[in-house]
Amino acid sequence: MKLNIAILPGDGIGPEIITQALEVTKAICTKFNHELTYKEALVGAIAIDKTGNPYPQETHNLCMDSDAVLFGAIGDPKYDNNPSAKVRPEQGLLKMRKELGLYANLRPINTFPSLIHKSPLRPDLVEGADFMCVRELTGGLYFGRPQGRSEDGNTAYDTCVYTREEIERIVRLAYKLAGQRNKKLTIVDKANVLCSSRLWRQVSQEIEKEFPDIETEYMFVDNAAMQIIQWPKRFDVLVTENLFGDILTDEASVITGSLGMLPSASIGIHTSVFEPIHGSYPQAAGKNIANPLATILSAALMFEYAFDLKKEGALIRKAVDASMEQKIVTEDIAFDGKAYSTFEVGNWIVDYIKNS
Ligand code: IPM
Ligand code: MN
Repeated sequence: MKLNIAILPGDGIGPEIITQALEVTKAICTKFNHELTYKEALVGAIAIDKTGNPYPQETHNLCMDSDAVLFGAIGDPKYDNNPSAKVRPEQGLLKMRKELGLYANLRPINTFPSLIHKSPLRPDLVEGADFMCVRELTGGLYFGRPQGRSEDGNTAYDTCVYTREEIERIVRLAYKLAGQRNKKLTIVDKANVLCSSRLWRQVSQEIEKEFPDIETEYMFVDNAAMQIIQWPKRFDVLVTENLFGDILTDEASVITGSLGMLPSASIGIHTSVFEPIHGSYPQAAGKNIANPLATILSAALMFEYAFDLKKEGALIRKAVDASMEQKIVTEDIAFDGKAYSTFEVGNWIVDYIKNS
């Protein structure tokens, strides 16, 4: 098969982790006889530095012309502490999501037996936890307008907007995923307070009727935040709006043991994007210490979701599991103090794939 992908390394540790994910992708393509072509493009702070635009038109054109996008991370501390910056790296990511129509962000949460000791939660609570968070990605507070400040600068506002159509498509997709898994869907909102959440609940209740074989439950987001930690094994598929999903999935990552392990797939209207859920971790940039596994696992999702190549994705997962069993891991999840570099971990996985 021909695979034509766009590589967007971004900022901070982005270039280091994406290099490893790309090497893994190349190794898989060689192994399974796929023809890989790829091109790199700018996004985030580095794109602002070079072009003034966090998501240049050229980058968008490349994404549109590709079959999948592999994305590193974006963000730079020089913008984080400067609330008056007009152009921000994050705008690049948001613009990309919007322009590619990526309304669904799939964030699988599962545990790795060799990592259970890294979770701050009791092993019996987390062992075997396995659920899928479906985060709406192009609506809500992130995109609602008006957004801004009053003239005197002392009042600021964001707006949470959802249309029926936006809710319908994401909830339907979540139901379909639940149908392929354990047939349980948790719909998370704040319908006791927010008008937009009440529309979510109303539309969801209508769609629920289309899927009688799926067990549906409705849960307020504050309760969900508690239950994810208290009883993670009760969830199968969880669907929620943009900001709630952002927060709940960082929270859910502690179940795994490290934020450095969690991949994601953003899918929708145009080319799908595969990216780790963690940020650009600027303190670690250039040090060759960042965990590349979330990005490598995002490449596995790319094979599965963008190309329907299940064996390829499975081999990446097997290699990642083996690296952890052999304790070839970076410092965030290191065992007994022995840590390997970003490059060493990636390289070990590439060798595993070549030799399997
Ligand atoms: C994520 C990130 C982004 C988000 C930031 C970098 C804009 O936290 O992908 O979860 O909030 O969506
Ligand atoms: Mn986030």
